[in-house]
Amino acid sequence: MKRVITYGTFDTLHHGHIRLLRRAKAEGDFLVVALSTDEFNATKGKSAEFSFAERKYDLEAIRYVDLVIPENSWDQKVKDVQLFDIDTFVMGDDWKGDFDFLKEHCEVVYLERTPSISSTQIRNTMKNKEKA
Ligand code: CTP
Repeated sequence: MKRVITYGTFDTLHHGHIRLLRRAKAEGDFLVVALSTDEFNATKGKSAEFSFAERKYDLEAIRYVDLVIPENSWDQKVKDVQLFDIDTFVMGDDWKGDFDFLKEHCEVVYLERTPSISSTQIRNTMKNKEKA
């Protein structure tokens, strides 16, 4: 059983997220998603359209996702890798190099980001439609 982990906010769930999750699951047999909490996002100055509970509910309905855990801080990754016996850490390549420090604990894979879609873009489109 090869175990994989990935991190993110996964707000306004979109095609780029699904592609990332499908390819992350294909790296192994069991996929853990560490989902950024609303409190953690606030420390980054980010605010999601949907709450942690809503985003978790959606992720749990995706066939590639086996377990959703909270991401509460930047520095929990080594602990998560050890606790969940992770073999492979996966992130989109917008983070390329940023998590290489995990290589002493597990394999680190950066997957190509899907072009032309993001939560920010969707949130902005929704806001512009509300204004119109
Ligand atoms: N991701 C991707 N392709 C996209 C958007 C996101 O592969 N077009 C990946 C990211 O690289 C990350 C994961 O999906 O590994 C979760 O990304 P997240 O930051 O939640 O999504 P974004 O759409 O990038 O959100 P934002 O615009 O708020 O940064």
